Amino acid sequence: MSTKATLFCLLFIATLITTSMPYSPKEKLTHLHFYFHEVDSGPNATVVTSTTLHRNTTFGDINLFDNTLRVGTQPDSALIGGAQGMGVHAALDGSQGLAAINFFFTAGEYNGSSLATLGVIKASGPSERSIVGGTGKFRFARGYMLSKLVNSTATSLVVEFDMYFTHF
Ligand SMILES: *[C@@H]1O[C@H](CO)[C@@H](O)[C@H](O)[C@H]1NC(C)=O
Ligand SMILES: *[C@@H]1O[C@H](CO)[C@@H](O)[C@H](O)[C@H]1NC(C)=O
Ligand SMILES: *[C@@H]1O[C@H](CO)[C@@H](O)[C@H](O)[C@H]1NC(C)=O
Ligand SMILES: *[C@@H]1O[C@H](CO)[C@@H](O)[C@H](O)[C@H]1NC(C)=O
Repeated sequence: MSTKATLFCLLFIATLITTSMPYSPKEKLTHLHFYFHEVDSGPNATVVTSTTLHRNTTFGDINLFDNTLRVGTQPDSALIGGAQGMGVHAALDGSQGLAAINFFFTAGEYNGSSLATLGVIKASGPSERSIVGGTGKFRFARGYMLSKLVNSTATSLVVEFDMYFTHF
């Protein structure tokens, strides 16, 4: 190969590399901590069972919810966003379900940004689920979230969330 052709090839490869990874230098790791509040019954319920097979098991039931995200465990602590999604009772033995939830933020520097999540929620204890995408300041998000029940009454529950994800 002539020197000119070699130089051209190198330039071409360099262009391919730079155009295929334009964002990599700006990737960030973010940790979010908040509480997810659900009201299970009464006039202000934030969850419904939209589908049930009316069998002797919850298998096949689908819950839809529009819950609030707050900075603390008290129901009147500052509102920072919402969690809209569904929980599908996808285990025959009732031990766990599949949750698809969109988390969106309405306060502070992440106002207007959202995270799409998917994964298994266990009836017995803490769960780890995937963060599969995001919008706004969280475009290209990927990571995981840990959740655990911190307060449960006859009519409400509060779940603590820690999210860890990279984004640009
Ligand atoms: C339901 O929400 C309304 C409006 O926020 C409030 O005035 C009312 O007290 C709530 N009811 C209950 C039972 O929490
Ligand atoms: C329904 O579930 C209960 C409790 O698990 C069980 O004792 C009962 O035998 C079940 N009935 C039928 C028809 O499967
Ligand atoms: C648990 O939730 C109830 C109902 O919202 C509330 O009255 C109580 O203070 C909460 N407990 C804690 C430890 O946050
Ligand atoms: C969040 O953004 C919306 C739309 O830009 C704006 O109307 C609202 O006031 C903002 N909320 C806060 C708490 O900054």
